[in-house]
Amino acid sequence: MNEWSPDSWQRKPATQQPDYPDPGVFQSVLRQLSRLPPLVTSWEIETLKRQLAEAARGERFLLQGGDCSESFEDCESGVIAAKLKILLQMSLVLVHGGKKRVTRVGRFAGQYAKPRSAHTETKNGVTLPTYRGDMINSPDFDVAERTHDPELLLRGYERAALTINFIRALIDGGFADLHHPEYWELGFVWKSPLASEYMRMVESIGESLRFMETLTGSNVAEGNRVDFFTSHEGLHLWYEQAQTRQVPRRAGWYNLTTHLPWIGNRTRALDGAHVEYFRGIQNPVALKIGPPISPEETLALCEVLNPNNEPGRLTLIARFGADKVAQGLPPIVEAVQRAGKVVLWCCDPMHGNTETTSSGLKTRRFEKILAELETSFCILKESGAHLGGVHFELTGDNVTECLGGASGVTEADLARAYRTQVDPRLNYEQALEMALLLARLMAQQRK
Ligand code: PEP
Ligand code: CO
Repeated sequence: MNEWSPDSWQRKPATQQPDYPDPGVFQSVLRQLSRLPPLVTSWEIETLKRQLAEAARGERFLLQGGDCSESFEDCESGVIAAKLKILLQMSLVLVHGGKKRVTRVGRFAGQYAKPRSAHTETKNGVTLPTYRGDMINSPDFDVAERTHDPELLLRGYERAALTINFIRALIDGGFADLHHPEYWELGFVWKSPLASEYMRMVESIGESLRFMETLTGSNVAEGNRVDFFTSHEGLHLWYEQAQTRQVPRRAGWYNLTTHLPWIGNRTRALDGAHVEYFRGIQNPVALKIGPPISPEETLALCEVLNPNNEPGRLTLIARFGADKVAQGLPPIVEAVQRAGKVVLWCCDPMHGNTETTSSGLKTRRFEKILAELETSFCILKESGAHLGGVHFELTGDNVTECLGGASGVTEADLARAYRTQVDPRLNYEQALEMALLLARLMAQQRK
């Protein structure tokens, strides 16, 4: 295979890249980006890789979640704290169900660029470039707003830095209240047929926390610093390259914009630029796998992305959809198992379950999301592997974008608080309920 360098991807076909009208401004932005200090460090990246290796061995569980696309407007304290809170609460529920440690990875602090199926969008006879994430252009349907603007790369980088700065501060500050079910918003629980089971789980989490705190004489959050890692789709390769660095006393190159970059289902071509870029960085990397991927293609990607079969290096995030997973996933798992590839199996039950309502809104059904998770747990278990992680699009706010759950979001409710520019997210209640159901599944799997 050819020599890798941070720019070797430029010799391969790169899809989903922006098109800037002024190359001079773009080059100047890239020069600035490549000099700014990094957002994360190599030792954090290596810590995450070790944790993912543990998850691949079945000793840990990965919880990854956040917005489909972060928006610049939502870079504010309340929204960030709410996202951290829901991920932390979900992780406590999963610790309870799975009886193993949970690694929390946000889809945040850099999830600003989106792959799109169409280049343009037409409204009332006017055709404009599609919205590609706040780091590329703006959602408003207007020529100036939709033109790709390289300065937005700097604005995105800065907001990623502000986000990560606030997250680090909240974590250092203990974030204590959020550990305690006394502070959770559990009103929705009573509407579920599983109400008493949910309450037993929550009470038992509270008891364990109080027991630990009595035992150690300290607050759990203070005693055991909870860590959060960041992730985003490594889509805009110029941006990723500008932050790809060598660090003292470590071999190789690190992408220092995020801990865990992933390759999307649309840009995973074996001979494409994205796979070329990802194969050379030291970070743990994730790969979305979904239709129409074949077992052979998956194996070839495992070979290129993790030639030394290093544990923790490669996470495969399956996103087939509840209706396709039973057919699509088993041959892939079998091929990977047979070839002896060490991977962490993760399920993204969101992206294969998107549908459009009669009024034209993109949505997802709670029961389909849950069904894909259940099926995936079984498929992996039957193949002698195990599901070691989950990947959700969610938010800590009370949006109405996905249907169902105990709180009973209906089609008529969607318009009330539909805020996403891209994919529909689970809201606070739906996300917490999903965690309770997942914990239940994990407990059943242990038996
Ligand atoms: C996403 O994660 O938002 C996404 C576009 O996913 P996928 O690449 O799996 O379609
Ligand atoms: Co999405």
